[in-house]
Amino acid sequence: TLSAIDTAKFVAAKQACTYVEDGMRLGLGTGSTAAWLVRCLGEMVEQDGLRITGVPTSTRTAELARQAGIEVVSLDEARWLDLTIDGADEFDGELNLIKGGGGALLQEKIVATASDRMIVIADATKKVETLGAFPLPVEVIPFGWQTTKALLEETVASLDVMGETVTLRMDGGDPYVTDEGNHILDLHLGRIGNPRQLALVLNQVPGVVENGLFIDICDIVIVGSGDGSVSVTD
Ligand code: A5P
Repeated sequence: TLSAIDTAKFVAAKQACTYVEDGMRLGLGTGSTAAWLVRCLGEMVEQDGLRITGVPTSTRTAELARQAGIEVVSLDEARWLDLTIDGADEFDGELNLIKGGGGALLQEKIVATASDRMIVIADATKKVETLGAFPLPVEVIPFGWQTTKALLEETVASLDVMGETVTLRMDGGDPYVTDEGNHILDLHLGRIGNPRQLALVLNQVPGVVENGLFIDICDIVIVGSGDGSVSVTD
């Protein structure tokens, strides 16, 4: 039997599968909730003969998808996608998101943006009034990352946020390295008053590759609960 949190993630993933149609090109998200999605899709491929093409958003998801029997292609092979289904670390009432807790924000943002629609699957703990309690991941190139970090601290201090601490994400004793060979700086902002402005400003800082704010990208959020119920917001 599944724990309440796994039940919540599973039922959200299962509900998202009802949006998947034969022949679709799908962006496959990263994280523990998206892993449930990949398993569900794999079953639909094996048991129901569903034909889909998947574009994974990380090497981890690519491996999971192949194991599940899903045909995997690169984004450039697919060119455009019907739908991306992914998890999130936070979402607000306007369906703006913080993503990148799992370190895959760059590919996730590229793939979601190349999709006609994006569905987020989540448990209820991800829903917030205002984004920012979850540290905002920012992918930066390794060159001069400490200088980039200082510049980011200065930049956010002038904006409508509560905190301004920036930390380098670690992996054991070493800096975490993304699929693209970059590092991640986590911005501990507490409260993001204007996510749209912040997303634009962060990407102006030299050394920043992309930030984990997804603005006007997500169309539908499916929230699962531990009792097996789901609610859909669009
Ligand atoms: C990966 O980089 C993230 O954007 C994930 O989508 C996010 O961390 C959600 O992961 P969980 O489903 O494991 O909470």
